[in-house]
Amino acid sequence: MQILLYVICYMKILFFGDIVGQPGRQALKKILPELKQELKPDLVLANGENVAHGQGLTEKAIKEVLDCGIDFLTSGDHTFALGGSEQILADKKIPILRPLNWPGNAAGRGYEIITVGTRRALLVNLIGRVFMKHDFDDPFQKLKELLEDYSLKGKEQGSEAMDAIILDFHAEATSEKAALAWFLDGRVSAVLGTHTHVPTADERILPGGTAFLSDLGMVGPQESVLGANKETVIKRFLTQRLFKLETASGSQVEIGGAVIEINDQTGLAISINRIRKIVALE
Ligand SMILES: [Fe+2]
Repeated sequence: MQILLYVICYMKILFFGDIVGQPGRQALKKILPELKQELKPDLVLANGENVAHGQGLTEKAIKEVLDCGIDFLTSGDHTFALGGSEQILADKKIPILRPLNWPGNAAGRGYEIITVGTRRALLVNLIGRVFMKHDFDDPFQKLKELLEDYSLKGKEQGSEAMDAIILDFHAEATSEKAALAWFLDGRVSAVLGTHTHVPTADERILPGGTAFLSDLGMVGPQESVLGANKETVIKRFLTQRLFKLETASGSQVEIGGAVIEINDQTGLAISINRIRKIVALE
């Protein structure tokens, strides 16, 4: 009797939700080496729009998380919150994206082809429009246009072949995130939500093979409101005044993310598993 053994080769991606300020950076420094040892990811990604002071980007804060083992960052509505962001985003040596559908001539880029061994993965960053303060371009249309140039395994005629297409959809509304995931099902490897800082438990692989999770959560202080100082947020609700938000302190940091395995043959997802851990900082 002949037994045929099939070995599925896959790429493993570890993606963290929004890294919030110094507590987020410190927690990554502490946990990422052991997580990498345990999970052996081929690529480590995170949303970095809150990496500096809980809102915005600085070169120093970005370097700190890259030194921890993050390969590439995405961002969102806080991308341009701090002075110097434009120079950071315009520097192609710094591995960070801003949303592709940011209108006007925004500095930086919304997608990047990342070389992972012999594979080429397309990382894309989009921002939602529902309940967001700014008037962003249509994310659905932007993605549709991009997929005419790049497609999984070159399925679209005339497009460049990608081994994986991973999308960070930085958006508030779960409906918008789910709609985009269904819109892209079978055409991208994964649609992962960020921005709310609250992890959702709806991870699944859609029928066409796209992994989907509404929100990855955050890497940020647990004794907080979405990473911000809870007393200030309560005061804002009580007084209806915009007191400046600061990143919360505290020694407990929650780690929100997911691990996605992508089939080398098809570029579609084999599995998606959430990660949720609490790290104690000394
Ligand atoms: Fe955001």
